[in-house]
Amino acid sequence: METKVDEIAAGIFRLSTFVPEIAAPAGFAFNQFLVLGDQPLMFHTGLRKMFTLNRDALARIIPPERLRWIAYGHFEADECGAMNEWLAAAPQATAAHGNTGSMVSLNDFADRAPRILNDGEVIDLGGGKRVRFIDTPHTPHGWDAGVLFEESTRTLMCGDLFTQLGDGPALTDGDVVGPAIAGEDLFRYSSLNPGMGATIRNLAKLAPRTLAIMHGPSFSGDGAAALQALADDYDRRVTGATREALQLAAA
Ligand SMILES: [Fe+2]
Ligand SMILES: [Fe+2]
Repeated sequence: METKVDEIAAGIFRLSTFVPEIAAPAGFAFNQFLVLGDQPLMFHTGLRKMFTLNRDALARIIPPERLRWIAYGHFEADECGAMNEWLAAAPQATAAHGNTGSMVSLNDFADRAPRILNDGEVIDLGGGKRVRFIDTPHTPHGWDAGVLFEESTRTLMCGDLFTQLGDGPALTDGDVVGPAIAGEDLFRYSSLNPGMGATIRNLAKLAPRTLAIMHGPSFSGDGAAALQALADDYDRRVTGATREALQLAAA
């Protein structure tokens, strides 16, 4: 396996490891994002078993010990499994996550105390980079779920939202909604909930120019339109699932 490194927005790098065995024959990619600045931040740690790959990839951009912040979307092995390996490799780094995630997992899991972020709280990374944490509970899954928005480049690091199969380009201006719908059809990875459409539409208000997708190519273009279309699809799924449940209960 190799980890590819690409700059997907000014000062934001995508570290991508493709695993052909997962969901073969299409395969599946795991992406981390490095945001440069005086205090560099990484979004997602990657799997613990991929730590060496990701550390060596990151070292092609900055010395790993320069890393200052380690953030992620929700508590799962690909999102934060290598947290303590990174905290050891970067002695100045602090883990950062929302209130729920810190309370239920990170306070115990991380070898050093995390910074606990309120919904909407910003970390100023210096060098013009500012990242805002946004709570997205249960969207796409995990009650601790959240995303990160880099304000200067309008890049939304949207974690598992828009998950798709395959090893596409690092950055595309093509369709990311259709492949995400196919990904949801296959994996059923989202925790369908009545608030899901509204949560995703709330992200569309940020008008992102780049969507940094954890499993798939990053998207350059009208991020709001892509998020609205994704929200519409989840509304359709939630409505359908609710109708089926009510019919079953009435039968
Ligand atoms: Fe996940
Ligand atoms: Fe993931």
